[in-house]
Amino acid sequence: MDTILVMDFGGQYSRLVARRVREHHVYAVIEPYQKVTPEVVRRERYKGIIFTGGPSSVNEEGAPSCDPELLEMDIPVLGICYGCQLIAKTKGGEVASDSDAGEYGKTELYTDSDLLFEGVPKSSVCWMSHHDRVSALSNGYIAIAHTDRCPCAAIRDKEGKIYGVQFHPEVSHTEYGMKVLANFLFEVCGCKAEWEMKGFVERSVERFRNELEGKRVLLALSGGVDSAVTAALLQRSVGSNLSCVFVDHGLLRKGEGDLVERTFRERLGDGLVRVDARERFLNALKGVTEPEKKRKIIGELFIRIFEEEAKRLGTPEVLAQGTIYPDVIESGQGNAAVIKSHHNVGGLPENIQFSEIAEPLRDLFKDEVREVGKELGLPDELIYRQPFPGPGLSVRVLGEVTEEKLHILREADAIFREEVDRLERKERPDQYFAVYTGAQSVGVKGDERSYGYCIALRAVSTEDFMTAQWTRLPLDVLERAGARIANELPEVTRVVYDITSKPPATVEWE
Ligand code: XMP
Repeated sequence: MDTILVMDFGGQYSRLVARRVREHHVYAVIEPYQKVTPEVVRRERYKGIIFTGGPSSVNEEGAPSCDPELLEMDIPVLGICYGCQLIAKTKGGEVASDSDAGEYGKTELYTDSDLLFEGVPKSSVCWMSHHDRVSALSNGYIAIAHTDRCPCAAIRDKEGKIYGVQFHPEVSHTEYGMKVLANFLFEVCGCKAEWEMKGFVERSVERFRNELEGKRVLLALSGGVDSAVTAALLQRSVGSNLSCVFVDHGLLRKGEGDLVERTFRERLGDGLVRVDARERFLNALKGVTEPEKKRKIIGELFIRIFEEEAKRLGTPEVLAQGTIYPDVIESGQGNAAVIKSHHNVGGLPENIQFSEIAEPLRDLFKDEVREVGKELGLPDELIYRQPFPGPGLSVRVLGEVTEEKLHILREADAIFREEVDRLERKERPDQYFAVYTGAQSVGVKGDERSYGYCIALRAVSTEDFMTAQWTRLPLDVLERAGARIANELPEVTRVVYDITSKPPATVEWE
C-alpha cells in the first residue's frame, strides 16, 4: 500500500498532518526527524515525505535538520512551515528571522498556476503561524505563491518534486488546504487511495487468524471504544480462543456495565467474564479522600483482580491491548511493542508473563478506530462513547467515595447526558458529565426548607484534551438539565455549571 512519511520536526500539527493524509485514503506514518535516514526511506519505499512545522528557527545553532540526500532521492517532498524553510536553507537559500517576518492567523494567499494549486483559486484564505520566512531561493527553486508580507509563501524545485508551503494546509482555516494536500498526494506523488477501514478489518482478521492460531488470548475490557473494538476484531479472528475480562469496579456510569455485558455476551458467550468487584473497590476506597491515592488504589486493585482472573483462566499466552496510534507516538515512537501505561487503569500486570502481546489497533487514529467499530457492527453508544477516566466516577465524587454519593452522581449524570444527547452529534461537547461536589446547600422544596447536595455540570470542547475550553452549551439544554436534576433527585438542592477552561483547571475535578 502507498505510504507517506510524515517527518516530525516537533510541530503542534504533526499528527493532524498524518490524519489529513489518511482522510484522503492514503496511509501515513509519523517518525521523528532524527530517525529518518535515506536508507529508511528506501527500505520502506515511501511514496512521498512531508516535513512538518516545528518551533525552532533554522538559523539557530543545532536546529533540527535533515540529511540533504532526502532532497535528492527522486521521492517527492512537501515541507510545511519550518519544513519549507528547512528545504530552502538546505538547498542554499536564505531564511530571514527579522522582526517583521512573521504572520499569524488567517492570511490572504495568492497562488500561481501550478500542479500543487490545481483547483485552488488565485486568491484564498490560508492559516499562517511563523516567525521566520524564506527570503531568498537558490538556483533551481522558484516561488509559486505569495502573501502581502511573504514573497515565498510556497516554493518548488524546477523538476516539480520538492515543494514547500509556508502556510498550514492541514488546518481547517486554510480554505483549500485539503485540495493542496490532495494535489501533492495524487498529482505529485502519484499515490493510490487505498487506505480504508473495510480493507483494514479484512487484513487484520486474516493476519491475527494466522498469527494467533491455536493460542489463547486475554483482553481487559473496560467498555471504552479502544478495548471494545479490539475485542470485536479479535473475536472475529480467533473466536472462542478469546477471553475478555470485564472488571466491574462499580465506578461506571448509569447503565454502562450492562451495555458492555449485553454487547459482548452476544459475541463472546462464556468468553466474557464479568467480575463483580464493586464491594472490593468500595472497601478499598473507604476513608480515602486524596485524589492521587484513589487513583493508585483503583489501579493496583484492578491489576490484582485481572491477575487473579488470568490465573483462573489458566494464563493465556497472549495479552491483547487496545493501544492506538496516538499512544504509540506519545510513548516515544518505539517500534517495539508499546504498552499503554498512560494514566489508564489496567496497565500490564507485572506478575504474569505473557509470551506475546497483540495490539491490532496500534496503527489507527481514534476516528479510524470508530470506523472499524462500525464496520464490526458495534452499537453507536459504544463507538461514540465520550472519553471516560479509568478510575471512573471516583474522581468525580470529591472526597470519600460512598455508594450513596455514587448513586446521586450516576442519576444526575444520566440526566445531564440525556439532555446534551438531544443535540446533533457534531454539536455535542467532546466531554460532558456531572460532578458530586460534596458541598451542601440550602434549598426550598415544596414549602419546606431543605438542605441538600450541590451537583456541578461540566462540558468541554477540545482537540486533544491537553487544553480544553468550557463549552457554551445552549441555555435551554442547561436549563432543562438543571431543573430535572434538582426536581427528580430529592437529595439535590443546587446545580451549577463549571465555566473554567484547561488550563488553569483540569477537565476532571480530581
Ligand atoms: P484532565 O482531568 O487531566 O483530563 O484534564 C484529561 C482527559 O483525561 C481523562 N482522565 C483520565 N483518564 N485515567 C484515565 O484513563 C485517569 O486517571 C484520568 N484522569 C483524567 C479525562 O477524563 C479527560 O478526558
